[in-house]
Amino acid sequence: MPEPLLVARQGWVTTLTINRPEVANALTMEGLLALRDAVEKLAGDDARAVVITGAGEKAFCAGADLKERAGMRPDQVRTFIQTIRETLTAVSRLPQATIAAINGAALGGGTELALACDIRVAASNATMGLTETTLAIIPGGGGTQRLPRLVGAGRAKEMILTGRRVDASEALRIGLVEEVVEPGELLARARKIAELIASNGPIAVRAAKEAIDRGLELPLDDALRLESDLYDRTIDTEDRTEGLTAFREKRAPNYKGR
Ligand code: COA
Repeated sequence: MPEPLLVARQGWVTTLTINRPEVANALTMEGLLALRDAVEKLAGDDARAVVITGAGEKAFCAGADLKERAGMRPDQVRTFIQTIRETLTAVSRLPQATIAAINGAALGGGTELALACDIRVAASNATMGLTETTLAIIPGGGGTQRLPRLVGAGRAKEMILTGRRVDASEALRIGLVEEVVEPGELLARARKIAELIASNGPIAVRAAKEAIDRGLELPLDDALRLESDLYDRTIDTEDRTEGLTAFREKRAPNYKGR
């Protein structure tokens, strides 16, 4: 059996590729556990950005493996749902910047995986949707919470209650993805964004991500205090001095994460 998840590091960027293209990269329990393990390892490593994508040209991830699901007892379904919720929460809490490169269908858990990332870039042939209600269930990997936070409650309700799929241009229009590119350019574009982020001060990038994610859940005054605390984390760093020196010397900075 091929590995259900490929992990490849290039420079400061790690790419995770869900690798079951023959079933539209649907997630079995085994695949989900591989994703959870990879994310746990990444959380403690010095990669500066992460690209998440699917193998092949047709699907990013078709969500849970519905053939495996059909053979599960209710308690096994509950365990799967808890595991996908925890895994996607772990993706969203990675200290690194995460970019979903949506290379085709992203349905159910596939759209939820993209929602757990910081930035979404889609190929023009991508389709997305939280289709669970068409199967008489609801999104269980954070979709009912992350979709309305990204696109607004009305749009999220319309999408989740109808179970409707959206194409790449609609996803761009409603803010479900940040960018749409031709399929052949998708990975290069996602990596370009990842490399741009990786060239910035790593402590600053992590602090900025944390300020946005935690701050959005707080009243404004508390969120501004959080920003101030996180800014403080950058002040005594070597990288901050390097940024000012590089500016004076008219050269690119070389940040070390210290
Ligand atoms: N679970 C298990 N197998 C799946 C799957 C899923 N979620 N999604 C697709 N597959 C399988 C198909 O059954 C097919 O296998 P088969 O050849 O043995 O029948 C294979 O993947 C390719 O799918 P196919 O539908 O032939 O390809 P496509 O390119 O025309 O369409 C999708 C791809 C993903 C758009 C389509 O398969 C689809 O809509 N899948 C359902 C996804 C879904 O509803 N997910 C929500 C889960 S809550």
